[in-house]
Amino acid sequence: MLQFAPFTMCQPYFMTSILVALICFTSSATASDILIICPTASYSHQQPFLLITQALLQRNHSVTLLTCNPEKIKPHENLTLVDWSFTYDLWKTNTEFNLQTRKSQWENVRFFSTSFSTKASSLQWAHKNTQQFIQTIIQTNKTYDLMVHEGWAHHSYMSLLDIIGNPPMILVSTAHSFSFLTLPFNNPENPSYVPVNFTGNTDKMTFWQRLTNTLIYLKYYWLFMKTLEQEDQVRQTYLDKKYNKRSLKEIFQDGSRNSFLSCFDSRITNYVRPVHPKIVEVGPLHLVEPKPLDQKLQAWMNDAPAGVIYFSLGSNMKGTSMGDFRRRAFLKAFARFPQYRVLWKWENEDVMEGQPENVLLKKWMPQQDVLAHPKVKLFIMQGGLQSLQEAYHYGVKLICIPMFGDQDLNSQRVGKIKTGIVLEFNDLNEEYIYKALKTVLEDPLYSQNMAYYSALSKDSPMSPMEKSVWWIEYVLRHKGVAHLHSGAADLSIVQYYLLDVIAFLVAILISVMLLVYLALSKVVRSMIKTNQGKIKKKKMK
Ligand SMILES: *[C@@H]1O[C@H](CO)[C@@H](O)[C@H](O)[C@H]1NC(C)=O
Ligand SMILES: *[C@@H]1O[C@H](CO)[C@@H](O)[C@H](O)[C@H]1NC(C)=O
Ligand SMILES: *[C@@H]1O[C@H](CO)[C@@H](O)[C@H](O)[C@H]1NC(C)=O
Ligand SMILES: *[C@@H]1O[C@H](CO)[C@@H](O)[C@H](O)[C@H]1NC(C)=O
Repeated sequence: MLQFAPFTMCQPYFMTSILVALICFTSSATASDILIICPTASYSHQQPFLLITQALLQRNHSVTLLTCNPEKIKPHENLTLVDWSFTYDLWKTNTEFNLQTRKSQWENVRFFSTSFSTKASSLQWAHKNTQQFIQTIIQTNKTYDLMVHEGWAHHSYMSLLDIIGNPPMILVSTAHSFSFLTLPFNNPENPSYVPVNFTGNTDKMTFWQRLTNTLIYLKYYWLFMKTLEQEDQVRQTYLDKKYNKRSLKEIFQDGSRNSFLSCFDSRITNYVRPVHPKIVEVGPLHLVEPKPLDQKLQAWMNDAPAGVIYFSLGSNMKGTSMGDFRRRAFLKAFARFPQYRVLWKWENEDVMEGQPENVLLKKWMPQQDVLAHPKVKLFIMQGGLQSLQEAYHYGVKLICIPMFGDQDLNSQRVGKIKTGIVLEFNDLNEEYIYKALKTVLEDPLYSQNMAYYSALSKDSPMSPMEKSVWWIEYVLRHKGVAHLHSGAADLSIVQYYLLDVIAFLVAILISVMLLVYLALSKVVRSMIKTNQGKIKKKKMK
């Protein structure tokens, strides 16, 4: 049996470091056996799972973790690792997975759906590490108390539920929960005001935007269902038929026991929308207490007269991919702000030709530590979610240059609440960059808005890690969240949208109108008849 004991809360929290979080956990919990599966070969997807694993180990749970970054977690006597690091080779061997170019919303949908999910899954299922792991489970009849699975793709692993004793499952999205992902949870996701991931829409759309938003939503749903079928084929290739008791679709739609935990807080980086009680927004898990910078850099930043501009296009995009014209445009624009110093993450050389005095190039920087420096006034970035969360946490204004994926969506939110400005990559030139820099740096509106949203992003009753662990143990204690099953899940589309009721009411309305029309026309006709009769009679007289 699992005991329930409430946490003491740390309030207010400012740093979401695990240490702080764990000091807050004073209750003891009965140890459980947890299977955590994180298949996506991207560190920003892996990190939240690694952090959750660490926190669960500290709570005395035993964890089996399937991860692409096993080297990033310390060995522990209650931790079993399955090494999926080879999944990263996909990025090298598949040129279609190219993250160096600007992508349209339609390209995004194609790119991130079917091919990305099933290629990685096939590679992983076929690998000896995975096969060994599954064979061991089968041979030893191993069961788990809970399965935690990354929710956005690679759903073939949900089939493992049937061979590990069918425990409850938690689907985790390392981002804002996808619209289609929340369908089995019956979250109301009306594309009239909920912008779909991979579009650049906001929550106020013109007719045409609502149309494309709806079409992308439908296309996404269709692609997602197709991916689910393909994932089903993948697992049928690698898992003996006798273990496949349900189809993936059935497992996915058997949402009543599932709980969905989203590692994302939509109040700040996305638009407000309703969230079903089975979906929990926990917020950024990856924020850690900043460490001191190296002394030289620290001194250089301290001496910046007006402040520091931090320029980094993230870990996927290479600086060189922007091309020579855009690179020079940035240099010229930066030279027009000599009172600021610019810290530019640039992988290639240490000094660029034509580099002004106020620019410093570095191949790598500890981003959170840099953003935490009080002199940093502006962050030029791509609109990646985790970097955005860091910017909000440290209150640094933004210039976003979205390239692909959810970066358009995230950036438009920044533009809408005016915590920064969005620039189109294809239009970048000196004047365009200069104007954006001038506006964000000098218009006090942007500082005010950022201060406001930064305060909001930190104001929460418990840290994201405490909240995550609390909900995971909640699901363990109650063996699922069947009590949160919504009646909406049992309705057909026709019933859910009340199409039958609307049709019925419209039918009654039409019948009544028809009856009234028929009755009236009968009366009118008989009146005309009697009138004509009278006229005839008069004429006859
Ligand atoms: C974990 O177990 C140790 C001893 O085995 C115990 O002292 C500690 O309180 C437990 N921690 C939690 C969070 O239950
Ligand atoms: C491992 O888990 C057991 C309970 O299953 C617990 O008593 C023990 O303290 C854990 N070990 C560590 C190093 O936390
Ligand atoms: C696993 O379960 C099967 C069938 O229930 C049984 O025949 C087998 O002996 C079990 N194996 C172990 C190692 O317990
Ligand atoms: C959109 O989807 C991508 C792909 O999984 C994900 O990495 C990203 O975080 C999502 N963004 C939002 C805002 O949901």
